Amino acid sequence: MPKGDELKEGQMKRVQVRGRSILLVRQGGQVFGVSNICPHEGCSLDKGILKEYLVMCPCHGWWFDIRNGQYVENNAIALESYRCKIQNGKIYAEITGKV
Ligand code: FES
Repeated sequence: MPKGDELKEGQMKRVQVRGRSILLVRQGGQVFGVSNICPHEGCSLDKGILKEYLVMCPCHGWWFDIRNGQYVENNAIALESYRCKIQNGKIYAEITGKV
């Protein structure tokens, strides 16, 4: 995981944690973590556009809320989201479930 100061406000960064591709986003002084893989056709969201708390997939323009992973057009679709924190200058993501 990156150090806290490697992820600046308004930036996104892709990291690999326990075999998962995770998108970290720093926004509003907090760090959010969601799956980096778009559930539509699998594009990487880190190449997309971040606008406040929404990230747009670069392939077909689906928008996701980084606070909870929700696809904005359909409540039934969401990215996995991971609770993150910065502690002692490092970013930690809480990964639960099967790897
Ligand atoms: S792959 Fe992300 S919107 Fe199609």
